[in-house]
Amino acid sequence: MKTLFAKLSTALLMIVVLIGTSFLIVVQFSTRLYYEEITQRLNSSIAMYVTEERQLIDDGVVNTEALSLLAQQAMIINPTVEAYLLDTQGAILAHALPPESMLTDRVDLAPVHALLAGDVDMPLRGTDPRNLDRQKVFSAHPVVHNGVVQGYLYAVLGGQKYDELADSIRGSYIQKLTFGALVAIVSGAFLVGWLVFGLLTRRLTRLTSDVRRFSEADFDATMLVKGFDASVGDGPVRRRRDEIGQLGAAFAAMANKIYEQFEGLNETDRLRRELVSNVSHDLRTPLASMHGYVETLLIKNDILSTHERKRYLEIARKHTQHLTRLVEDLFELSKLDSASVHPSLEYFSLAELLQDVTQEFELEAGKKDIMIEVSSRPETSTVYADIALMQRVLENLIRNALKYTPKGGSISISLDKRSDSVAVMIADTGCGIAKEDLSRVFDRFYRSEHHDGDSSTSAGLGLAIVRRILDLHGSRITVTSEVNEGTCFEFELPSNKAA
Ligand SMILES: Nc1ncnc2c1ncn2[C@@H]1O[C@H](COP(=O)(O)OP(=O)(O)OP(=O)(O)O)[C@@H](O)[C@H]1O
Ligand SMILES: [Mg+2]
Repeated sequence: MKTLFAKLSTALLMIVVLIGTSFLIVVQFSTRLYYEEITQRLNSSIAMYVTEERQLIDDGVVNTEALSLLAQQAMIINPTVEAYLLDTQGAILAHALPPESMLTDRVDLAPVHALLAGDVDMPLRGTDPRNLDRQKVFSAHPVVHNGVVQGYLYAVLGGQKYDELADSIRGSYIQKLTFGALVAIVSGAFLVGWLVFGLLTRRLTRLTSDVRRFSEADFDATMLVKGFDASVGDGPVRRRRDEIGQLGAAFAAMANKIYEQFEGLNETDRLRRELVSNVSHDLRTPLASMHGYVETLLIKNDILSTHERKRYLEIARKHTQHLTRLVEDLFELSKLDSASVHPSLEYFSLAELLQDVTQEFELEAGKKDIMIEVSSRPETSTVYADIALMQRVLENLIRNALKYTPKGGSISISLDKRSDSVAVMIADTGCGIAKEDLSRVFDRFYRSEHHDGDSSTSAGLGLAIVRRILDLHGSRITVTSEVNEGTCFEFELPSNKAA
């Protein structure tokens, strides 16, 4: 008995049998009570009529003849009636039954008194002198002479005749029919329950096999679509919104989530591998170059001129600077990616910060003859952000604009107050970004091939850092660009806490 279906069926069978048996017992018991109450009520006056018919006791002397005559008459009218004449103590004075069938010569008077006092719950049972195992319903009436109670007429209703009759019809047609009907009803109920359980557990079994198939297919996406999803979602049975249907739907949702996470993990793994290969490539190139120059310096130290030596050392220094920046940027990105960085938000003037940052680049811009125009109004440029991280964003964007704008170009930066934010726009007249590259410029290590900038100093991490920082502020950066015309980066910062 391993399956849930078998367990449920057995439990159902037991319940049905229990109910059937209890019902049978209750019916038999109540039928008897019903019969007894009706009999006692119907015949309650039988003893009274008999006693009123004749004087049965006259000054302590029993009129046996009259009694046997009356008893016979009563038994003819109702054959289950057995009449006894009792004295005031309950001793049987006379009766019209075969003396050998008497098992006692006394009748308990307590029920007799109770019946005569009236106001009793019927059926009320008393002694049956011919069957001491079982009490019977009865009728009783006092025998009075000259106002003195001489004794009682006690009539057992449903006496031996009734017992014999009841025994003889046991197993009769009616009883068999009743029993048969009960068995049929109980079996029918069991059958219906069995079928219902079968249907319900079949859905569970199917669900289980779907789950098993899904895990056996190693959480395969095609399996998910072909097998599980289809059978859970679309089948007429599974669509129901009962508990099993909900379980199926919940599992489908879970399976989808597992699948998505699987895909996500695969993607992360791919990115990680790409990152490692990019990092190693970016580290190897300057390291190899540095190694070459340092080795040349060592080998040819004596024959190199001071000028050449200085040039070699400068190249080596440039590479170390590049390596330092690369490592710093990588470290910063990984810090931003982990949950350890929480922007410390505060109110500050973005216009002031912008002024400080543009000052940093003044010299470089002057060298390239590039104009940096700033249009902002300090009083409407308050933002709620992390000032150090924002400085990093502006630096990266301005550095890019300078790097990718040829001599004589210009960079314009504007701050625009919106309802609950400040929009920042950094536009240049540089080389621009090709349409196909636009969506990828924010990717790590992405460097466009088509620009004139110095690729040896580029890591392709600047914009990735910018996007990550703005992510942390709940903001998105967008870029628009035309090749050879210029590029414009745009983002918004909240101007107050609620925004
Ligand atoms: N203002 C711009 N004009 C034209 N191209 C740009 C501009 N800003 C970014 N790009 C393109 O996007 C690429 C990615 O920029 P990002 O700042 O991430 O890297 P990078 O500047 O190449 O290197 P890093 O900033 O790490 O030193 C650049 O290589 C460049 O091709
Ligand atoms: Mg950059």
